[in-house]
Amino acid sequence: MSGVSDRAKSHNRVDAWRHIIAIILTAGCASACFRFSDEPEWVDSDTTMNAATSRGGVDGHSDSGEHESASTSEGSTDDGTTHGATTEATEDGDSSSTGDASGPPTECSDLDTLIATADCVGIRIGAAINAFAVEEDPRYVETFLREFGSMTHENELKWGSVQPTSDSWNYGPADTLVELAEQRGMFIKGHVLVWHRQLPDWVSEPMTADDLRAAMRANMEMTMHRYADRIDAWDVVNEAFEEDGTRRNTIFQRLLGDGYIAEAFRMAHETDPDALLYYNDFNIETAGWKSDAAYALAVDLVAAAIPIDGVGMQLHIDGDSYPDYYSPEDFRTNIRRFGELGLTVNISEFDVRVRDVPGTLEQKLELQRQIYFEFVSVCVSEPACDAITFWGFTDKYSWVDNTFGEDDPLLYSETYAPKPALDGVMEALRTSFQP
Ligand code: G3I
Repeated sequence: MSGVSDRAKSHNRVDAWRHIIAIILTAGCASACFRFSDEPEWVDSDTTMNAATSRGGVDGHSDSGEHESASTSEGSTDDGTTHGATTEATEDGDSSSTGDASGPPTECSDLDTLIATADCVGIRIGAAINAFAVEEDPRYVETFLREFGSMTHENELKWGSVQPTSDSWNYGPADTLVELAEQRGMFIKGHVLVWHRQLPDWVSEPMTADDLRAAMRANMEMTMHRYADRIDAWDVVNEAFEEDGTRRNTIFQRLLGDGYIAEAFRMAHETDPDALLYYNDFNIETAGWKSDAAYALAVDLVAAAIPIDGVGMQLHIDGDSYPDYYSPEDFRTNIRRFGELGLTVNISEFDVRVRDVPGTLEQKLELQRQIYFEFVSVCVSEPACDAITFWGFTDKYSWVDNTFGEDDPLLYSETYAPKPALDGVMEALRTSFQP
């Protein structure tokens, strides 16, 4: 794979410059930082990603998913640097960086797969996949292997999947996906270590704080050690904030308090010192309380030298709320401010819903193409943004249908026909370069 896909796991976390920047920023971010350290006021809200209800809001829904069971079960430009590096593409679509870049590498325009084009312009591109589809659908496997350079498990590494009871472990489906990705030497991102959804039933109250800590450590040790040198990066903590910027009322927050995020990152780093470690959340690509809270968290973590490498912005976009809520310029602003902390930013779960967009199907899909184009363009043109992961790639398999109603959120149709959305992503990769 190219330089982007190398398993460069060198960590710059302790670089002195980064901490100096963090300290300066800490001093200058009084209100956001105070919000971080304040005792949160709990609101009873849900993980809904419907911007219409979530925008700056506390008007959520009850969070019933905490113990949902799931029986199914990004080398990095870690230094926050270059896209648009001049590259040499080979016939099979692979490419190698030849260094710097003064403009668009023209040869990138002629490549016809996502992976070849993304490699050529210097960004990692991947998808979340699921073991069920891998087992039943050869076309799914063929498309995934042809188009993508990194892989994320959609559900198979979630705690409830790998450790359904305290003394049983199930890695079969997760292994299937790792082995598939390894066929192409893909970058693999593990999703997810600490999340309040899809937990096993036994991770629940009553349980002491020490029991929870011990359980977190056991899960990390078993899972991260199993995939050491195979899984490159982990979403360590997922979705810790409500839309109003307060901490989400989860078992981790209740038992371990505000410090649980730092604790989880330390634990993950102790368990696999070579893995890249990310905080991941939705709607933190937008402007508002939630992204401010995630930013304040990042400032505090970096200032305290907690081993965090990057932030995943999910980008589960509702087309009907574009561009007022889902604004490419707010996304750019967020990438930059996290990047200034020395963190990388990745688009971690990209999809674009269009069912509520007014108009014909053709109009909906055209807006979807435009949204994909705009957001990919921003990522490619920002040095800190080093990877894009779509949450699936064919409309045949998407979490969206079950959660929001039937939709067509991804790059390929249910019959694997390339959609305008795919054109939007390709066009953005081919034409958007860091100046
Ligand atoms: O495996 C069981 C199956 O045995 C059972 O028959 C079926 C009945 O509903 O459920 C299956 O489990 C489902 C599981 O996906 C696997 O397909 C769960 O019900 C379903 O709730 C679960 O949904 C997942 C969701 O996370 C849970 O919160 C989605 O597939 C997955 O795409 C989604 O991914 C999350 C990210 O992890 C974090 N960010 C948001 C994103 C979208 O919600």
